Amino acid sequence: MKALKHCLSLLDFETDDLKKLINLAKAIKADPSAYSDVLKGKSIATLYEKQSLRTRVTFDVGINKLGGHAVYLDQSNGQLGSRESVKDFATNLSQWVDAIVARVNAHETLDEFKLFSKVPVINSLSDWYHPCQALADTLTLSEYYSDLSECTLSYIGDGNNVAHSLLNAGALVGFNVNVITPVGREVNAKVLSFAKSVAEVKGIEINTGNDLELLNSTDVIYTDTWVSMGDDTPLTQVKAEFMDYQVNETLMQTYNIKHFMHCQPVHRGFEATDEVCDGEGSLMLPQANNRLWAQCALLVYLMAPEYLTV
Ligand code: CP
Ligand code: NVA
Repeated sequence: MKALKHCLSLLDFETDDLKKLINLAKAIKADPSAYSDVLKGKSIATLYEKQSLRTRVTFDVGINKLGGHAVYLDQSNGQLGSRESVKDFATNLSQWVDAIVARVNAHETLDEFKLFSKVPVINSLSDWYHPCQALADTLTLSEYYSDLSECTLSYIGDGNNVAHSLLNAGALVGFNVNVITPVGREVNAKVLSFAKSVAEVKGIEINTGNDLELLNSTDVIYTDTWVSMGDDTPLTQVKAEFMDYQVNETLMQTYNIKHFMHCQPVHRGFEATDEVCDGEGSLMLPQANNRLWAQCALLVYLMAPEYLTV
């Protein structure tokens, strides 16, 4: 019997698997109709403890494109772990569906799902990681930079779930990553040290700090909200702390940065200005588009690996 595979973070993959996944995403994007029966007869539960636009729609549409059926679950029928335990929820659910995609408040909920589920579990955002986003971002980068090892992405802002997954992606796939945060908003030390150890072997640079000078030699600047879902601090309250790290036209020009990325939703006038979001170098929409294709590839990889030939 084949081992059950999950995607709780990109650390669930080897470098080769991720490269194959990105190639598969490109192949599906180029000719979706060639993959239209891959998930025929399969049902996938997509569960949300938090809000979503991009993830919800791209999983639903992507599953449909692959010939499968998405079952949307929100919290209106009882909060996870409250009406019944996560274990009971997972064991019931995994009898009926062929995979579970879950956006959760606490990453530990996914660990429990993984423990009790008989089908693949995909993290569609937790407080720790956002692997589906980083996969789509890697696909996007690879469309603009033919040699990713020559590309330097600088993440600026809050050292959050998105930053963690970008560190994983850079280390595993092989692009250079800087993470620049205000003091006290750094990425998790364990996530960083693992990424550094993986990157070092490949000759990939991973650097972190609080100083904007780290932006020198940046090709792509990436930012995210200063206040993630689940944190109810008003954005205006953190403004003073983060404002020096705003991505605006002056910053782009000072450091001669070509491309801008953001996972969205974006808070215009806070982490990035309209000028940058709507500017020529903005990759926000290609990133959002690529969520669809990267997630299709992920579903194929976990549920129908025989198609992973590209
Ligand atoms: N980037 C992203 O995950 O967007 P949503 O929160 O709208 O799904
Ligand atoms: N860091 C953000 C990402 C949203 C897609 C959050 O967790 O809310």
